[in-house]
Amino acid sequence: MERTYIKDLESKKGQPVVIKGWIDIRRDQGKLIFLDIRDMTGYVQGVVLPAKTDVAKAVMETASKVRPEWVVAIEGKVNPRPEKNIQKDKQNGSIELEITGITVLNEAATPPIDVRSDGREIGEEPRLTYRYLDLRRPRLQTNMRSRHTLNLFIRNWLTKESFTEIETPILTKATPEGARDFLVPSRIEPGRFYALPQSPQQYKQLLMVSGFEKYFQLARCMRDEDTRGDRQPEFTQLDLEMSFVAREDVMALNERLLIDLVKTLYPHKKIQQIPFPRFTYKEAMEKYQSDKPDIRTDKNDPDLLAFCWVIDFPFFEKTDKGGWTFTHNPFSAPKPEHMDWLMKGEKIGDILTTQYDVALNGFEIGGGSIRNHRPEALSKVLEIMGHSPEKIRTNFGHMLDALGYGAPPHGGIAWGLDRLMAILRNEPNIREVIAFAKTGEGRDLMMQSPAEAEPERLIELGITVKKK
Ligand code: AMO
Repeated sequence: MERTYIKDLESKKGQPVVIKGWIDIRRDQGKLIFLDIRDMTGYVQGVVLPAKTDVAKAVMETASKVRPEWVVAIEGKVNPRPEKNIQKDKQNGSIELEITGITVLNEAATPPIDVRSDGREIGEEPRLTYRYLDLRRPRLQTNMRSRHTLNLFIRNWLTKESFTEIETPILTKATPEGARDFLVPSRIEPGRFYALPQSPQQYKQLLMVSGFEKYFQLARCMRDEDTRGDRQPEFTQLDLEMSFVAREDVMALNERLLIDLVKTLYPHKKIQQIPFPRFTYKEAMEKYQSDKPDIRTDKNDPDLLAFCWVIDFPFFEKTDKGGWTFTHNPFSAPKPEHMDWLMKGEKIGDILTTQYDVALNGFEIGGGSIRNHRPEALSKVLEIMGHSPEKIRTNFGHMLDALGYGAPPHGGIAWGLDRLMAILRNEPNIREVIAFAKTGEGRDLMMQSPAEAEPERLIELGITVKKK
């Protein structure tokens, strides 16, 4: 008989069915044994009735042997529950599965962690060590499935707006982008290294030069920085870039997408203010002492979403050594009215960037800018940051060349998708919305990584390790 998914059982009243899944709970009441079964679509209560025939006795025997988390195929009959036993709010609350056959597909050792609770009472170490079990808990099942739904919504929405999703390389080159790079040694050229991308920033700009005009990607980004609640060494951005746009166009599109996705996928949530309020960096710092202000009028309401934009950030800030560095993104353009100062290298501390950040309930969930699409402007930024002409050539030659071959005006943004997801799911930590997250120390406890490399591999790569 064909397998029925548990979610479809209520439409099969009176019929024989086969379901497959895991034993969720087993309650032995002597004469009766209740087995709750779950599959990816939900839960159902099954019952093994007192045995009269030999076949039924065998079923009863198996039912007394099975334990939670065993994998089973169950034959049964879908019986309507008597009126007084109907549980209206519960999935399959109007039926009970009369179990007529049990095949054990696999036994299971007793799980080291409870997989039915919401898991908040369990320490991070066992949860991440046994993440494949931790992911069985309903809360994480919902988180992962909601994440899929969000990704799908974004993909469809942007596709309707004529965006093309393009994958960009993971093995790339180190560039100064703010955080430390993860390096990957080259075997073919010992002593040389790829870097893992901190973001697809340069590639997406190059795709604008290629004429794609509207690009997006659900992009994995890697940054070797200290992990905390809203930061992982490996995270996901919704990365996008558009040609022939000004700051307002990118902000308007992103605001529309955020509103549509909340209204469609989280209709019970309330967006505090539409259009999203905007603050200049100066206003935000003065009023909220934060560049990602939490402007919620009621911080106890888990379903209140207070988005806001922060704009007009200073382009440059002083380094400890007295030079200048960028505050957000070296590829940004200054505000049009400050382009002159940039090109003349004047009033550097007063130059404002086209950068726009979007904050939600006190978290920075995205940021982007209009870029310098003329090579001389990018050169000037790099020069102000004290890069020598040789260094500019080695590190950014490809970008400057590309901008010189007919680069359209362009700009974009990247959202921290994990952060957005965590807030939408009322999770305090992005680890709860990442399937295989790392610890605060950047370890993957399940795979036990980072791990030592085989000595032969290191010889091949020309690497000697100095133990600290
Ligand atoms: P930025 O560095 O601001 O911009 O990153 C964009 C967004 O990504 C999220 N984010 C992170 N989330 C989890 N863990 C991390 N370690 C982490 N680091 C950043 C934040 C942030 O707002 N290329 C530019 C974007 C652009 O200009 O288009 C960039 O990467 O929510």
